[in-house]
Amino acid sequence: MRALIAGNWKMNGRRADAGRLAAPLGAAAAGLACDLLLCPPATLLAAVAAVLSGTAAAVGGQDCHAAPDGAHTGDLSAAMLRDAGATWVILGHSERRAEHGESDAVVRAKAVAAQAAGLAPIVCVGETEAERLAGQHLAVVRRQLAGSLPDGFAGVVAYEPVWAIGTGRTPSTADVAEMHQSIRGIVGAGVRILYGGSVKPGNAAELLAVPEVGGALVGGASLQADDFLAIARAAPAG
Ligand code: PGA
Repeated sequence: MRALIAGNWKMNGRRADAGRLAAPLGAAAAGLACDLLLCPPATLLAAVAAVLSGTAAAVGGQDCHAAPDGAHTGDLSAAMLRDAGATWVILGHSERRAEHGESDAVVRAKAVAAQAAGLAPIVCVGETEAERLAGQHLAVVRRQLAGSLPDGFAGVVAYEPVWAIGTGRTPSTADVAEMHQSIRGIVGAGVRILYGGSVKPGNAAELLAVPEVGGALVGGASLQADDFLAIARAAPAG
């Protein structure tokens, strides 16, 4: 399986960034040994999709509503993301779970809606630092997966320890291996399992070489084209 290197711009980016950031990545994508995905904020989805049109890089949203249309002020449906050019969507990111109270059941409903609209979901899971220190990390992620993944899940899982996101801290490769092994036992073969949390050019090769790590979900380092490309180039050929 080819690795997937996904960039999560989070709440960053203006119109000028669509070309500045996405154009060099689109140009490089066909020459990479991995799949490349950019997830800009919704305001830039169509612009980034236009810049990447005809390249090997894909575009994704960062969240979607579970309903197809309707009275949900401020929300976006999976079909709208698809209409703007997205083929992927990140769901259940820890920032959505923490800031918007998204439960596993909500994430699961969104994943169903995404798949129905033709989007491939990236479902995020991961423990807090307190949960890891209490030795609960495997059980927490097992519970999140059981609640968040719909039957017939055909997307990608991203393991993102909450304490590693944006902190510059990462788990040891042994801890990543243990978790990814455990997730593999739950999701079965064929589902790519990404690692996310402070992936940088300097640690990408080591993290991407861990067994069962099928790519990376990259936040901060995806906002610099050079850094994001360096991470993509560190992905082993699948
Ligand atoms: P980070 O974010 O790379 O800035 O730690 C990762 C993520 O939240 O997806």
